Amino acid sequence: MPCFVVTGGGGFIGSHIVRTLLDRGDSVRVVDDFSTGKRENLAEVEADIDLHVADIRNLEALRPVFEGADYVLHQGAIPSVPRSVQDPISSHEANCTGTLNVLIAARDAGVKRVVQASSSSVYGSNPALPKVETMRPMPISPYAATKLTQEAYASAFYGSFGLETVSLRYFNVFGPRQDPKSQYAAVIPIFCTKLLANQSPTIYGDGEQTRDFTYVANVVQANIKAAEATDGAGGAFNIACGQRLSLNDLLARLCAIMGADIEAIYEPERVGDVKHSLADISAAQAAFGYEPSVDFDEGLRRTAEFFSAGA
Ligand SMILES: NC(=O)c1ccc[n+]([C@@H]2O[C@H](COP(=O)([O-])OP(=O)(O)OC[C@H]3O[C@@H](n4cnc5c(N)ncnc54)[C@H](O)[C@@H]3O)[C@@H](O)[C@H]2O)c1
Repeated sequence: MPCFVVTGGGGFIGSHIVRTLLDRGDSVRVVDDFSTGKRENLAEVEADIDLHVADIRNLEALRPVFEGADYVLHQGAIPSVPRSVQDPISSHEANCTGTLNVLIAARDAGVKRVVQASSSSVYGSNPALPKVETMRPMPISPYAATKLTQEAYASAFYGSFGLETVSLRYFNVFGPRQDPKSQYAAVIPIFCTKLLANQSPTIYGDGEQTRDFTYVANVVQANIKAAEATDGAGGAFNIACGQRLSLNDLLARLCAIMGADIEAIYEPERVGDVKHSLADISAAQAAFGYEPSVDFDEGLRRTAEFFSAGA
């Protein structure tokens, strides 16, 4: 039975990865300091995992956890653009120093492959659509700069030490357990909770900005396929659905699913936000057989159901 370490396993995406690995019968170790994630995300699986409450900024804390592991799925990070604009140093420390530690611990433990969470934000102000991995990254937020740095370290560790690494550029992931309450929460959980409370959500800008919203199960599948593949080492790959939707359309679709009739409040655009986002996913398809299996509408329905059940 393969052994996986999931950093950030107490977070939104990490906690979905953990459940899928357990369902497959894999052995799962989690590293999380619960700084942005929550222990209750793991509540009903805690007895089945080996949980280490540890900080990835501390290399020595990682070494014993990585010993004997086959794969590392590195999700741990401070994941927010606006938070990185407010406080670039703590984003840098968790995302860049933390990743360097993960790579060193993985190299020294003889891990077969490290798959890590990068982000579509690395494309930044490059206006071309769809985003293809061969395009020049042009980060416009400190967060995007940390993710590009993570990618550079990952490919450098493949080049210098032969440690197999794959970076996955996630495009706007959404689904159950995504935190709606944080000051830096993402748009879909905020829209769901606002509609349930019969309140108007805020849209920054005119709402015509577009995103390639990606249901979390697709990201889970990408991590596992990328880990177990033989191709792709040293590379970075888009992980998305390959369709885009404006925030205005998103709100309209959510209103239809949730039976609401609510208009947005419009505020000025936020610093660091990109205007449009759409992925070409053919590289991940070719390298490790990635294929989105849950489409946007089905994912939105499952997500709305999750938030409605908790309301
Ligand atoms: N959600 C998205 O749309 C999206 C898009 C692109 C990339 N990503 C990336 O995916 C990964 C997971 O994001 P998420 O949306 O699940 O966010 P999240 O905040 O729910 O998960 C991140 C997890 O990392 C943990 N963490 C943070 N700093 C840590 C540290 N120093 N030591 C140990 N653990 C630490 C947090 O406690 C949390 O559980 C992140 O790397 C993020 O940058 C997410």
